Amino acid sequence: MNLTVWVELTYLVSAVLFVVGLKRMQSPATARNGNALAASAMLLAIIATLVDIDVLGWTDILIGVTAGAVIGSLSARLVQMTAMPQMVGIFNGSGGGASAVVAGAEFVRINQAAAESLDLFGGVTIGISMLIGAVTLSGSLVAFAKLQGLMTGNPVVFPLQKVVSALIFLAILVCGVLVAVGGGVAGLSPLATFVLFSALALALGVLLVIPIGGADMPVVISLLNSYSGVAASAAGFVVGNMVLILSGALVGAAGLILTMIMCRAMNRSLGNVIFGAFGGDQGAAALATGEKKTARSVDAEQAALLLAYAQNVIIVPGYGLAVAQAQHELRKAMDLLEERGVNVRYAIHPVAGRMPGHMNVLLAEADVSYDKLFDLDEINDDFSRTDVVVVVGANDVVNPEARNPQSIIAGMPILDVDMARNVIVVKRSLSPGFAGIDNPLFYLDNSMMFFADARQAMTDLVKEIREA
Ligand code: TAP
Repeated sequence: MNLTVWVELTYLVSAVLFVVGLKRMQSPATARNGNALAASAMLLAIIATLVDIDVLGWTDILIGVTAGAVIGSLSARLVQMTAMPQMVGIFNGSGGGASAVVAGAEFVRINQAAAESLDLFGGVTIGISMLIGAVTLSGSLVAFAKLQGLMTGNPVVFPLQKVVSALIFLAILVCGVLVAVGGGVAGLSPLATFVLFSALALALGVLLVIPIGGADMPVVISLLNSYSGVAASAAGFVVGNMVLILSGALVGAAGLILTMIMCRAMNRSLGNVIFGAFGGDQGAAALATGEKKTARSVDAEQAALLLAYAQNVIIVPGYGLAVAQAQHELRKAMDLLEERGVNVRYAIHPVAGRMPGHMNVLLAEADVSYDKLFDLDEINDDFSRTDVVVVVGANDVVNPEARNPQSIIAGMPILDVDMARNVIVVKRSLSPGFAGIDNPLFYLDNSMMFFADARQAMTDLVKEIREA
C-alpha cells in the first residue's frame, strides 16, 4: 500500500473515532473514555497530515506532540474547576486563531505564487475561515479576560454599539467580496485589503463579546466553541483536508446544540443572550420591589437530626457548591446518611453552576456514583414524596418564581423542590443567584435556611450526623 492509502485509512479511523468519542460523551460514565477516543483521533489525524505533506521529520513531530501534551496536562491539572470555562475559552480562541493563520498563510502563498491565482471557491473558503477564526480568537480572548477578572465582567456598552458592529460587518463583507474576486479596496492591494479584512474581523469579535454579561459567558463560550469548529471546517476546505472538514463540522454542530440546550434550560433565546446584556440591574430592581418576608433558619445540629431520621433525601447542588468546593464533605455527609439506611439521590439541573455538566464533574470528583445522579425530568415528580431536600449553593434552578409569567425567569424549567416535605437551603445569605431575583422558596413554611459557607456547613453536618 502506498503512503496516500495509509493516510486516507488513518483519516477514516480518526473520523470514526471522532463520532464514537462524541457519542460516548453523552453520559458521565463514558465521557472520559469518549474524550480520550476523540483526543487520540485528533493525534492520529495530525500525525497522518504531517507525514502526508512531509514538511516535518519525526523528531519535530515528537517535539510538537510533547510540548502540546505538557501544556494540555498542566492546564487540566492546575486549572481550578471554577476556572474551567475560561480555560475552554482560551482553547477555543487557539482553535479559531489556528484556522485564521491557515487561511492567512494560504492567501499569502497564492498571492505570491506567479503561476496561481485565487479562484472564487478559494476566496470564499479563505474569507470564511479568516472571518470566523479571527472573530473566535478575539471574542474568546475577551471572554477569557472577563471570566478571569482581567476586565469587568459586566456588559460593556456604548452608544450606537450595534450600529458600529453592523457597519464593521458591512465593511468586512465589502473587503471580502473584493478580495474573493481578486481586487482591493480603493487604492489598496489585494494583500492590504485582506489584512484590513482580518483586522476588522478581530475588532468584530471584541465588539460582539464585550456587551455580554460575565455570567452569560458560558453560553458565549459554547457558541465560540461552535464558531471554532466552523472556522476549522472552512480551513479544511482551504487546504483540502477531509478530516479537518469533518472534525470541524462535528465541533461546530456539537457546540451549537450545546448552546441551544443551555439557552432552552435558561428559557432564553440565543439573541437575548447575545444582545440582552442580562444579569445587570434587574435583580436589584426585583429585590427592591419585594415585600419584607422572614425566613426560618436552622443550624447544623437541627439539619442533621432532620436528615438522620429521614427515609428519602434529595440533594440539589448548585453554583455555591463549586465556589465552596464542598463536594467531598457533601459526599462524606451523604455516606453517613446512607450507612443509616437513608435513600440519598442527587438532582442535576442542566444549567446548575456555570458550565455544562458542572455538577456532574464536581460530584464525579468526589466519587459520587453516577447511578445516584438524576436529571430534572427523571426526578422532578419525586420531590413531593421526599422527606428532606438539601439545596447546596443552588438558587435560580430551584426558584418557584419561574412559574410566575411576570418573572424574568418565567418558563425556565426548575427542580420542584418546594413540593418536598422539608427543604434545607444551604447558602450564606438570602442574596439572589445569577438571575438576580429574589427566591420565594426561602420563605415557604416547609423551607429552612442553613446560613453558612457550603463547605463549612457540610463539615459541621458530618460531625452532627455522627453524633445524631
Ligand atoms: P445561582 O442561581 O447562581 O445561585 C448560586 C448561589 O450559591 C448563590 O445564591 C449564592 O448565595 C450561593 N453561594 C455562593 N457561594 C457560596 C458558598 N461559598 N457557600 C454556599 N453558597 C454559596 O446558581 P444555580 O442555582 O446553580 O443556577 C445557575 C445559574 O447560572 C442559572 O441562573 C443559570 O441560568 C446560570 N447559568 C448557568 C450556566 C450553565 S451552563 N450551568 C451557564 C450560564 C448561566 P449566597 O451568596 O447567599 O451564598
